[in-house]
Amino acid sequence: MDEIGVGVIGMGTVGTGVVQVLLENSDEIARRLGARLRLVAVADKDVTTDRGVDLPEGVLTDDVGRVLDDPDVHVVVETIGGYEPAKSFILRAFANGKRVVTANKALLAVHGDEVFAAAHEAGVDLGFEAAVGGGIPILRAVREGMAANRVRRVYGILNGTTNFILTEMKERGEAFDRVLREAQRLGYAEADPTFDVEGVDAAHKLALLATMAFGARVPFEGVFTEGIRDITPQDIQYAADFGYDVKLLAVGKSEGGRIEVRVHPTLIPDDHLLANVRGVYNAVYVDADFLGPTLYYGQGAGRRATASAVAGDVIELARDVAAGRSGRVPPRAFLEDELAQADLKLIDDVVCQYYLRFTALDKPGVLSRISGVLGESHISIESVVQMGRDAGQAVPLVIMTHEAREADVRQALGEISTLGVTQGAPALIRIEG
Ligand code: HSE
Repeated sequence: MDEIGVGVIGMGTVGTGVVQVLLENSDEIARRLGARLRLVAVADKDVTTDRGVDLPEGVLTDDVGRVLDDPDVHVVVETIGGYEPAKSFILRAFANGKRVVTANKALLAVHGDEVFAAAHEAGVDLGFEAAVGGGIPILRAVREGMAANRVRRVYGILNGTTNFILTEMKERGEAFDRVLREAQRLGYAEADPTFDVEGVDAAHKLALLATMAFGARVPFEGVFTEGIRDITPQDIQYAADFGYDVKLLAVGKSEGGRIEVRVHPTLIPDDHLLANVRGVYNAVYVDADFLGPTLYYGQGAGRRATASAVAGDVIELARDVAAGRSGRVPPRAFLEDELAQADLKLIDDVVCQYYLRFTALDKPGVLSRISGVLGESHISIESVVQMGRDAGQAVPLVIMTHEAREADVRQALGEISTLGVTQGAPALIRIEG
C-alpha cells in the first residue's frame, strides 16, 4: 500500500486534534483511501508541552522547514491561525508543490485572492473545509452537492461563542458581560474575544461562504458587521414576547446580480429551525434554486469536530496525490477566472423588518410624535407595545416595523432623538424570516 506524507504546522487545539484523528483512525482512513497517511513532521515553537498525544519518535520539531521543504511531505496542514507567518508558510508550501489544508478563515477571508491565486499558479489544491462551520461539511455541500444550482440565500449561525452567550442570556436572563466571562472560563471564547463578539469571525466565514455560494468575490471588508455587545436580556425577553429569538446571524442573498452580505444580531421567528440552535452549535441554511432549502447543523468549533473537517480535506488531497492529479474541483466552487468582484448592496439599501426599542416618556402624545416621524420616513408600523406604566417617567417602548429601507430607519431614528421625548440611543435589531 502506498504512503502519503503529511506535515502539520501548529500543535495547538486543532493541530493536536488533527494528529490525534490521523493516528487513532489510521486504519479507517486507509480503508477509504487505499493508501497510508504517514505523519512525517509536526512543527511547533513549543516542543515540550505534553498534548496528550503519542507522536512517533522524531516527528515533533521546532523546524518548520521539516514540513515545508521535505519532499516526503505531500500534504501540509496549517493550524497556527492568524495572517503571518501562516500566509508565508502556505505560499512556501505551494512553491514547493505541496497541497495545503488550513482552518484559517481570517487569512482566507482577508488575503484569499492572493492565496487562491498562488495555489492556482502552482497547480496545487487548498482544502479549507474547517474554516466555515468547524466540523460541519458545509463547503463541500455547497461546492459539490449544489454544483448544478444557483444559490439564492444563505443564513448561518457561524460563531459558537456568541450563540452560547445569547442562549445563556435568554435562558438565565443574565447580562452580556457576565455570560462572556463564563464563556471564557469554559474555554469557548478566546482570551481576546473581540473577533467573536464583534461579529468579525462570523463575517470572515460569511465572506468565504458567500463567494462560493454566489460565484463572486465577496471581500471581508464588504460584509456589514455588527456584534452582540449591545444586546440586553430585556431585548431578548421582549423579542420572545413577540415570538422571536435573537441570534447573531450571517445573512447572504443574491438577487438580480447584486449580493447582500451582513452579520448582525437578528430576530428570527422562534419556530424557525435556526432559532432552535442552542449553545456553541452552528447551523447553516442554504436555499438553492433546484434543490430548495437545506439545513446543516453541528459543532462549529472544538478540537475533535474541527480536526474531522481538516482530516477530511487531507484525505481528499491525498487521493489526488495518489492519482497524480490536481485541480479536479475549484476550491472556491467556481473557476478562479470566473469569479468576478461581487456587486455588493450597501447596508443603506437593505430592506427588512425592524425591532426598535426606545426609552420614552410615559405621557400622552409621545407615541403619536414617534409614529409620526416613522410615517413621514415611509416606515409602516406592525405593532407597538409599551412595556409597563410609569406616568411622566421613561419606560421601554417597543415598535416592530413592516419592511423598511435601512437608510429611512436611520434617518427617522435621528429625527426622533431630537424630539425630546426619548432617552439614550434606541435599540435597533433587524428581523429575518
Ligand atoms: N471562535 C469560533 C467560534 C470557533 O466561537 O465559533 C472557531 O471558528
